[in-house]
Parts: sequence; C-alpha cells; structure tokens
Amino acid sequence: MPKKDFQNWSKEKLLHEYKELSKRKKFGIVWEDKIEEVAEQCKTSLPVLKDEKAKSFSTDKNGINHIFIEGDNYHALSVLNYTHKKKIDLIFIDPPYNTGNRSWRYNNDYVEKEDRFRHSKWLSFMSKRLRLARNLLKENGIIVVTIDDYELFTLGLLMDEIFFENNKIGVLAVESNPRGRTTNKFFATSHEYWLVYAKNSNVASIENVPLTEEQKKLFNLEDDVSSYRLLPFRRSGGLSTPEERPNSHYPIFYNEKTGKIDIEPFKNSIKILPIDSSGRKRVWRQTRPSLMEAVGRGDMVIKENGKGFVVYMKDRIKEGRKAKTIWINPKYDASSHGTVLLDKILDRRKAFDYPKSLYAVLDALSVLVANKKEAVILDFFAGSGTTGHAVLELNKNDGGKRQFILCTDNQDNNGSGTKIASDICYPRIKKVMSGYSIGGKKIAGLGDNLRYYSGELVGNIKTDNDKRVLTSRSTEMLCLAEATFDEVANKKGLFAIYENQKQMTGIIFDEDAISDFKKEAKKHKKPIVVYVFSYDHTYNEEDFEDLENLKVVKPIPEVILNVYRKIYKELYKPRNL
Ligand SMILES: C[S@@+](CC[C@H](N)C(=O)[O-])C[C@H]1O[C@@H](n2cnc3c(N)ncnc32)[C@H](O)[C@@H]1O
Repeated sequence: MPKKDFQNWSKEKLLHEYKELSKRKKFGIVWEDKIEEVAEQCKTSLPVLKDEKAKSFSTDKNGINHIFIEGDNYHALSVLNYTHKKKIDLIFIDPPYNTGNRSWRYNNDYVEKEDRFRHSKWLSFMSKRLRLARNLLKENGIIVVTIDDYELFTLGLLMDEIFFENNKIGVLAVESNPRGRTTNKFFATSHEYWLVYAKNSNVASIENVPLTEEQKKLFNLEDDVSSYRLLPFRRSGGLSTPEERPNSHYPIFYNEKTGKIDIEPFKNSIKILPIDSSGRKRVWRQTRPSLMEAVGRGDMVIKENGKGFVVYMKDRIKEGRKAKTIWINPKYDASSHGTVLLDKILDRRKAFDYPKSLYAVLDALSVLVANKKEAVILDFFAGSGTTGHAVLELNKNDGGKRQFILCTDNQDNNGSGTKIASDICYPRIKKVMSGYSIGGKKIAGLGDNLRYYSGELVGNIKTDNDKRVLTSRSTEMLCLAEATFDEVANKKGLFAIYENQKQMTGIIFDEDAISDFKKEAKKHKKPIVVYVFSYDHTYNEEDFEDLENLKVVKPIPEVILNVYRKIYKELYKPRNL
C-alpha cells in the first residue's frame, strides 16, 4: 500500500481519516466472510415452519410438548427469534468440529483439510448462528458450546466477541475418550472442551454438584448440627508464616477441664501457639474474629496428642461442592455411553459417528438447570438427540417439567444410507419417550409428547398477496410462540383457534371473518391472544372490544416481518474489519 502523505492533507481529510481509523477493530478475530447459500436464501425468502403432523406423537396428554425442527438451523434460529426470543434457559450445542475429515459441509460441499478458507467458512457459519442464538437466551441464560483442538482458539475469540469476555463462566475439559486417540502423531487426545458463557454473568447462576459416596465418607464424625471432619487449625505449606500473615499468628488460650477457648488469657488457661513439629512459627487458618465466631458455633476442638495440644476446626458436610473444570469419569466416555448406547437403542451397528455420552450431557444439565424445573433447553446441532434424551432423564430423576427444542438437518448420515433427522434423531427420541427393548429387556418410556416441524421458505414479501401467503403459512409459528398446539376450531382460509391448558390463540386469516371468529371464541372461557391479518400494522380496536377473554391483538404478518427485518439487518451490518 502506498504511504499516505499526511503532511499535505487538509484538516477535513485528516479528521475523516482519524474517524475511519478509530472505527477499526483493535483486538479480536478477523476473517473473510464466506457467503452461505442458506443465509442468502433468506434475503429473498422467509423461513416458516411446516407442521409434520404424521411425525408428531403423544404419550401423555398432560405431558410436556417437546419440539423437534428438521432443517437447517439458520432457518430454525430465525423462526425461533420470533417464537422464543429471550425464552431459552440453556443452549447446549455440539457443532461440527471442522476436522477436515469429510465431516462437515458448507454450501453442500465437504470442507477439506486443504481448503484455504476452512476456518473462514467455519467462522462465517458459526458466527451467524451464535448471533441469532444469543437473542434467544433469557437474561440469566447460559450457553455451552463443545469443541476440540481444531477450532478451540477461533471459537474462543468468537464467543468473546458475541457473548463478551466477562460472561465467560467456565472452560471445561471433559475426558470423552479415556483411551486417547492413538492415531495422533504426538499426544493421544483424550479430552474436548466445553466453553460455557452466560448471557449476563451478573445474574446467571449454576448449581453445586452432589458429593460422591466416597466424599461423604470423609465426614465421619457427627454432632447435633451435622456430619463433619476435623481439619488442623494450624496452616502448613504456602502462606503459613507470620511474616506472610501477621494477623493470623496469635496465642489461643484453653482450659482442658472446662473446654473454654479464648483469645484473651483467663484463669487456669494454658497458651497454645501455632508452632510446627520442627519448632517453626506458623499461623492459624483464620484471624482472631473468625476464630471466636467458630468458637461460638461450637466448631473448635482441641485435643492432647501426648506431645502437646493440637487445635482443630470442624469442616461441616455440604450439600454439594462447586463443579470443577476438569471432568473425568468413565461415564463420560463417548464411545460406551454415546456410540454403543445409541446402537443399542436403535438396534443398529455404528448408527451415528460422534454422539456425546448421555451422562456427560446429563451432568452438565444437572449443574446448569437442576433448580430450573421448567427450563427450556435448546440444541440446534442435535445430531443423534443426546440433549433431548438427557432432558427426559433429568425430568425423570427429579420430577422436572423441562422442555427441549431440538433442531438438526436431515443430511445423509456420512454415507451410511440413513438420514440424521428422520432415521437417527427422531427414532431415538420416539423410542426413549415411548419405550423400547434391548435384547429382550424392556426399557420403560420416559413419556411426554413431541411436536415435529420442518423448515420451509416462503417467497419474499413484496405485494399484498405475498402478505396473505405468509399469513396463511404462519400458523405453526404462532402456535409455537404461544405454546398452544391443540386445535379448537378451523375454518379454512378464514380463522383458526388453538389452545393449551391455560390459554387460546386465535388466528384470523381474513379480516371479513372477524365476526364469525368472535362467535366461536366467545364459546370458550380461556384468555385468548388474537392475531389478525392486516396489510399494514394496524387493526380496528373496536372490532374486538366485546371479546371479554381477550388478552391482546397483534397484526400479522407485520409482527413476524418486523422480527425478520431486525435480525437480518443486525447480521448483515458491516463489521469493522
Ligand atoms: C457433532 S454432531 C452433534 C452430535 C450430538 N451432540 C449427539 O450427541 O448426537 C453435529 C450435528 O449437527 C448437524 N448439523 C450440521 N450443520 C447443521 C445445520 N446447518 N443445521 C442443522 N444441523 C446441522 C449435523 O447433522 C450433525 O449431526
């Protein structure tokens, strides 16, 4: 690039240059955005959902309605931006790892190791989806993205850019392959990474993990308060000298007969100092005020050991402990508890390439949504459906009513002649919900219902007639947004009413049908949300004044179009490279 001749520039030109330079990105990830066909399609068409009634099923009328969306997740996430904005508690995704081993397609072509734009393609793909996904999280929501060495660093920077560094709440190492990948030239890879980000770390929270039986056994003493173990009150190791911690070196006064402990001398008391076995001055674990609080709680114990007095503090058993960042447990082995388990459920060999261990996902859910019994959990790279299975298991274990939303494409399952959504994910979820048998042994179904949708596109909205077409194709989205799936009335092309146990949704496709719609709606008592067709964003409020159970009226397709306009504008905003 030729050198710029700033000396001879005018003030205006210099100011303009300064503004342009200060807009430039100073730190972060930069890549060449690679056009993606599915995203391009959405510039001329709009994504909607099609109800695949024949694939939806119910095992329990009062159970939860879980959602399955077959199709590209760019489309599904766009639809969810209308139906589920800020409604999701947890997103758990296991995206393609971009290993270059013919495992991931971009614009229908496998991305090979030699592809110069391999990382740029992956970043273009992930960036759009993660941006769309962020809008879906509740303010206290959390996202987990699993990854291995191929894209760890790129993903980390991308997550920092989209979710912000201060919302990074954990980088876990999960031992998913305890044997280690022996085909590696150098180290035998045995773990992968789970990056955990909060939408807002100031309001997000996670749970402790319960103690194992082994850990509980350590608390082998008991008093009126709880089980406990005794820990020496004298510090050893690092930061244990009076020079390092002057406030923690002080005498403790004790009377063996009465058991009294104090920091001031009293009648018949002996003085105990933190001196170690080699005669070196050390410090106590806590300062004087904290010691006196522990004395007040009855948590200090002093014992004679033949050589002198030893001071102990009671360490009380806790409900659980903080989850650690390294997860090692045979049950996290993706081969035995992913591949083999899936083969057994589907009664097929090598059904799917890289399912996660059911128990690794289950334990993640336990840490992230154990106390959110009605959480909504989204996995938009569902693959074989492990996340859905884990949600059902967690609900079974603790009586929760968590709902899953799974989305996966229906691409060819790596040359096996099967398709991922229809031949792997869907049958797995169906079997797990309805029951199945392994080698003659019956496994009881975990219940609930599944609503199956596929992604579709409608032509872009240019004319008034296009608006009518979009309206007629938006029923599924509106029912999904309102969680009303049971049909109450349907006058084709005029209006339809759907309900759940608490409320109804009315959709008026033709404004001339408002009176007939109201006649039908008045027969029912539940509160009703009404969507009414309108060429613009207006409707006549008086038309609905006499509908007593009315909650709100929304004009369609304007409410949907507004969301699409906003999200696509955000995505295609020029980035400051
Ligand atoms: C690594 S697998 C997920 C495996 C899953 N965690 C399990 O335990 O089975 C990633 C999945 O994402 C799906 N996928 C890839 N690109 C997609 C896209 N654009 N839209 C929807 N699904 C996609 C693939 O079909 C693949 O099965």
